[in-house]
Amino acid sequence: MKARIVTLPGDGIGPEVTEAAVRVLEKIGQLFGHKFEFSEHLIGGCSIEKHAVALTDETLAACKGSDGVLLGAVGGPRWDNPDAAIRPEQGLLAIRKGLGLYANLRPVRSMPALFDVSPVKSENLVGVDLVVVRELTGGLYFGQPKGRFSDNGSLRAVDTMEYHEFEIVRILELAFRLAKNRKKKVTSVDKANILETSRLWRQVAARLGQKHPDILLEHMLVDTASMRLITSPASFDVLVTENTFGDILTDEASVLTGSMGMLPSASLGDNRPGLFEPIHGSAPDIAGKGIANPIGSILSAALLLRHGLNLEREARAIEVAVDRVIEDGHRTKDLKGTLTTQQMRNTIIDRIVSEQGD
Ligand code: IPM
Ligand code: MG
Repeated sequence: MKARIVTLPGDGIGPEVTEAAVRVLEKIGQLFGHKFEFSEHLIGGCSIEKHAVALTDETLAACKGSDGVLLGAVGGPRWDNPDAAIRPEQGLLAIRKGLGLYANLRPVRSMPALFDVSPVKSENLVGVDLVVVRELTGGLYFGQPKGRFSDNGSLRAVDTMEYHEFEIVRILELAFRLAKNRKKKVTSVDKANILETSRLWRQVAARLGQKHPDILLEHMLVDTASMRLITSPASFDVLVTENTFGDILTDEASVLTGSMGMLPSASLGDNRPGLFEPIHGSAPDIAGKGIANPIGSILSAALLLRHGLNLEREARAIEVAVDRVIEDGHRTKDLKGTLTTQQMRNTIIDRIVSEQGD
């Protein structure tokens, strides 16, 4: 097959890890006979430097015309001034909204070979294989009004948490669909004891749950969920939640895998090119040193193949190679090892094969 892939390396370690993922995709192309055409565009801080906006219309149009988008990371201390009107993160929000990517899938799987790197007790990590489905284009991130106001000289800041029923329906339906091919359990996470948006969320979830009798639906408050993710993470299968809760819970869940550098994500909409990015940020402290873990980005490329291009075998080939490399003890610095980004990339590329043995 032929596919046009837009890369948005962004800031900090974004370019280093995206390069690794592109090289992995090139190897997949060679092995499986696909032609991937890559075109690179700016987003985030680097776009602000050049165009004074975090996402240009041209970049958004290029993404819309592609078959999938691979993003690195955005942000850095240079653009962190709280008074700044233009921020790198706006680019990320604008592209999520612009492409209609309302569902963010963040799979979290603990590998026995990495149990010792996680601060969580090994006995709690056995069998952890969950996916967080984070609503991505609603809630506090986008609700209006939003801003700073001055009331008689005293400053006031407002963010609005807002959800429409259709937004809750479509993300919950996706969660139920995913659960059908997994362990058939959906945990809907909310704060229904306090928030009106959560009460609507819970009612809609319960109603849809009745349409899916084969799926076990449980409701959990977000504070409880944050505790259970550490005390009994293996009890989760599909965890579906609103935007901000999903942002927070996935950083927490990444600790189960040993390093935030391991986690990929897929942002999907209805019949649109998806966007695939590691969940980690731009890590300015290690940017340019060539020591970032490229696995989150490489596994995001696998998700691009699976969800964006429907190439399941090719996606599996990457995931199996990553598993084997980790089982063999190869580690970057975040995993308490010494491999550079490029060494990890090459080790994975060398392990990719087109046919999996038994
Ligand atoms: C994430 C990040 C982003 C978010 C930031 C960089 C805007 O933390 O993808 O989890 O909050 O969504
Ligand atoms: Mg986050």
